[in-house]
Amino acid sequence: MSTSFGELVEGTSVLITCGPGGVGKTTTAAAIAAEVARRSDRRVLVLTIDPARRLADALGLDGIGNDERRVAPEVLAAGGPAPLGRLEVAMLDTKQSWDALVRRHAQDAATAQKILENPLYQNITGRFIQSHDYIAMERLYELHRSGRYDLIVVDTPPTRNALDFLDAPERLADFFSSRLLRWLIAPYRSKVFNLASKPFTQVADKILGAQFLADIAEFFIALQSMYGGFVERAQAVSALVRSDEVTFCVVSSLETTPAREAEFFAAELTKRHLNLGAVVFNKVLPDVLTHPDAELAARMLTSKGEELASNLDEDEKLAARVLHEVGTSFVDFAQVARTERRIRQGFHLVCDLVCSVPYFDGDVADLEGLARLSKALFDHET
Ligand SMILES: Nc1ncnc2c1ncn2[C@@H]1O[C@H](COP(=O)(O)OP(=O)(O)OP(=O)(O)O)[C@@H](O)[C@H]1O
Ligand SMILES: [Mg+2]
Repeated sequence: MSTSFGELVEGTSVLITCGPGGVGKTTTAAAIAAEVARRSDRRVLVLTIDPARRLADALGLDGIGNDERRVAPEVLAAGGPAPLGRLEVAMLDTKQSWDALVRRHAQDAATAQKILENPLYQNITGRFIQSHDYIAMERLYELHRSGRYDLIVVDTPPTRNALDFLDAPERLADFFSSRLLRWLIAPYRSKVFNLASKPFTQVADKILGAQFLADIAEFFIALQSMYGGFVERAQAVSALVRSDEVTFCVVSSLETTPAREAEFFAAELTKRHLNLGAVVFNKVLPDVLTHPDAELAARMLTSKGEELASNLDEDEKLAARVLHEVGTSFVDFAQVARTERRIRQGFHLVCDLVCSVPYFDGDVADLEGLARLSKALFDHET
């Protein structure tokens, strides 16, 4: 187990940031990737999902595409010395990635075309098989296998359940071998009409129109011809995620609900024997809030505000009210900061490396902001 971020990334070739929604997964992934590319001679890729427009722009890319693009060294430097390594950025485009996957696995170009042109294709890939989660893992596998990168930092999609993407490869394999799928296409596949499903298809034909069911069947028959390739691939993706090369970094805030979700997620990773390398708490209140002297001073402001205000030349009543407000707010924040610290300390039981990143004023939307964030991570020692 690593006790610093520098050590952690040195020993890993894939780092996956995951955790509850909106806590800073994308920002953290980009910050870590940029920092590694600055401080070491490694070839680093960050695979982002839906980065904020301003962050994408700041990376010097006018619209990150499915293809990997290099971040200009002078942009990556963020005002510091020339970077030792190189950074590439790619965004996950679900549709493009699915299309590429279909082309790769279809038995021939005509079958691929048939699937891609099927009116149900987009709908099915979008809804049926958790396509976003699966395709993220699939893309990771492809990039890792290419051998073009020493470190791939993977951002994960905001899923309803943070574990969805972990299960995606198996779920896809299950789907392809499911009875539902076989049952759906059976009547269209065999010349002898399947008696068991005849009543269903007759009724469905009436309600939905014969063409609709024919489209479904044609789509699934074509899709099923790729079964072997898909399942084999899903298993390979699963094996990679479970290997020593992959480390997970759980990102969360210290608010109660996300922290609880992060705790559950960390426990699940451990239960599944996946490498939990670090827990990052983002947007954390500063430690100074819990300093005993600071809190003492704040309490004095609340209790002795009037007395203190009498020493000021200003309107006494107004000054007393402001001092009281400042003191009360500080004490309230100190209370929240103490709770946050308690929650954070609990995580040392599940992971050796638990880091905090402060809440910055304003979004983290440029390389300088990312560098500030990574400094908090890489300077941290346990
Ligand atoms: N430490 C920080 N201080 C202030 N703002 C931050 C900090 N970290 C991230 N942000 C801002 O919070 C917002 C959400 O961050 P981000 O997009 O990285 O979250 P996410 O976990 O990827 O969200 P989603 O689950 O929707 O993908 C962004 O506007 C980002 O600039
Ligand atoms: Mg994100």
